[in-house]
Order: sequence, then C-alpha cells, then structure tokens
Amino acid sequence: MNSDFPSDVLLFGDSISLLKDFPDSKVHLILSDIPYGISMEDWDVLHSNTNSALLGHSPAQDKAGAIFKKRGKPLNGWSEADRQIPIQYYNWVCSWAKDWFRVLVPGGNVFVFAGRRLAPRCIVAFEEAGFTFKDMISWNKKQAPHRAQRLSVVYSRRDDEESAQKWEGWKIGNLRPVFEPILWFSKPYKIGGTIADNVLQYGVGAYNETVFQKYGLEPNNMVTVKSLQSDTGLHPTQKPLKLMQFLIELTTIKGQLVLDPFCGSATTLVAALNTERHYIGIENNTDYYNVGIKRLIKAKEELESTLFIN
Ligand SMILES: C[S@@+](CC[C@H](N)C(=O)[O-])C[C@H]1O[C@@H](n2cnc3c(N)ncnc32)[C@H](O)[C@@H]1O
Repeated sequence: MNSDFPSDVLLFGDSISLLKDFPDSKVHLILSDIPYGISMEDWDVLHSNTNSALLGHSPAQDKAGAIFKKRGKPLNGWSEADRQIPIQYYNWVCSWAKDWFRVLVPGGNVFVFAGRRLAPRCIVAFEEAGFTFKDMISWNKKQAPHRAQRLSVVYSRRDDEESAQKWEGWKIGNLRPVFEPILWFSKPYKIGGTIADNVLQYGVGAYNETVFQKYGLEPNNMVTVKSLQSDTGLHPTQKPLKLMQFLIELTTIKGQLVLDPFCGSATTLVAALNTERHYIGIENNTDYYNVGIKRLIKAKEELESTLFIN
C-alpha cells in the first residue's frame, strides 16, 4: 500500500465527512451494509418524520424484545410525512455516493446491503453518482422473524366472529422476509479501453467464478448463507462472515483494498483480514467501534495462531 494512505485500520467518525479527505482511485471494493433507513435503531432513522405512530414503540414491543426499537406501528396510510421518507433516504445516499465513486479505481466494485423497501432509491442515487448498476444478488438467509398479524384475530377481538370466519387464513403485513438484496455496482472502466485492459491495469473488473465452489454455492445470483452462532451477538444487523468473505473473494485478489464506511462490528474488516486483503473501516458509534476493535484484535490473534500451527 501507499505509505501516505492508511490501511488496515478501523477509523472512528462520520464516514460521510471522513471520505471527503480520502484520495482518488485507491479502493478496489466497497462492501457495506449501509443503514436501510427503515427506522430499526436510532442510527437507521434517516428522515425527519416525527410521527409518533412510526417512531414510537409500544409496551408489547418492549416486552417481546422486538428488533425494531424505533418502528412503532407500521407505516399506514402514506401520510405526506411518510411519503417524504424515501425521498429523504435518497438525498442521504446522494450525500456520499459521489465520494464512494471517486475513491474507487476504474472498474472497482461496490456491494451494498440495502433494505427491500428503499433499495430502488439507493440504485437511482448510485446511478446519478456515476455508477453502473450491475446486478442484484439475492441473499437467502433461510430464516427470518415473521410478524404478520392474523386478520381473523383482529376481528375476534372486536367480537366480530362472522368476519373472523370469513377472513380465516388471511394476514396483515409482509411475507416472511427470507431474502435481502445485495446491490452490485461498478465504476465504469476507462473510455477507449476494454474491460480486459482494465483488469490488467487496475486488477478489477471481472469476477472469479471458482469462488462459488469454494464456498459451496451455486454459480448464480442467488446465494444461500445462514447466520451461524458466531455471526450473532455483536451487532443487531451483524452479517455472516462467510458471506462477506465470499463477496470479497468474488471480486478482488489478495493485497487489494476493501473499504466499509458503515462497518458496525467490523465483519467486513475481519473478512478482508481472513482473505488477505487490506481494509479500511469507519464507524461512528462508540460502542460498535470498540466491539470492532476488539474483534479485529481477536481475529488477528486467531490468524497468527493458525499460521504458527501450520
Ligand atoms: C447496518 S449497520 C452495519 C453492521 C455490520 N454489517 C456488522 O456486521 O456488524 C450500519 C452501521 O453504520 C453506522 N453508521 C451510521 N451512520 C454512520 C456514519 N455517518 N458514519 C459511520 N458509521 C455510521 C451505524 O452505527 C451502524 O453500526
């Protein structure tokens, strides 16, 4: 790596402002599980809608230890304030996507974990920043909590047994959400050259198909990776390490640089370390930053002890 540019670090701070000081064209892959803007936690509230029906939380939710600490009731009715949420999310993505584009080498890739509801806004913001929207990978998680309410129960509570019987089997809410989209963008390669020339010059632009087999996956755009016990407990939206390692090895070679500007418990960084890539992570929450630092130290120790044994 360039000596004037830090790598293999986890930085504390706001990535939107920190990235403005990053040099152009150094990063080979940005792999990030960005806030989905679905009001799951404080850091995920990216709109100014103070409607208490959305942002509150009920005693029942508290009791159930609901994962949505900020969601309150689901959006209902699409009030004017609710309609602003996707627009404000789009504006938020626009506020940093241009810097992501700038710091990547030509042909460099981006994988963004985005929520199903606001992913379209993310795609448009990235296209406007200059990226090509290459593909959408469906990450099949196998399991997901399901909270759709039974309509018959609602009517029974109102003592309306006739309606309860008529609507038996019907539910209010979404289907069980077992897949999450991973949006795949690339920075266009230089005009006048080919993608093959770009790979020779910058080392990126193609994908390594042999990696699917290595991770026991079918070579297509639907990947099934379960979260293991070791993939839980550090962050409310912690991603499986195997999935992150797969995405890194799919698009980069050893020694290249992976960036995660919203890195939470540093899963991306540990994945980069394990696959012998350089990494830079940024996190602005003190607790998660400290978790990430500890996790990286442990991962380095584990790696060193494996090397020693071998
Ligand atoms: C979806 S979580 C990432 C979780 C991660 N994939 C993991 O496995 O632990 C997004 C993280 O981005 C952080 N974040 C939000 N806004 C940020 C900002 N402007 N700069 C840096 N970090 C930010 C949040 O604190 C949160 O930990």
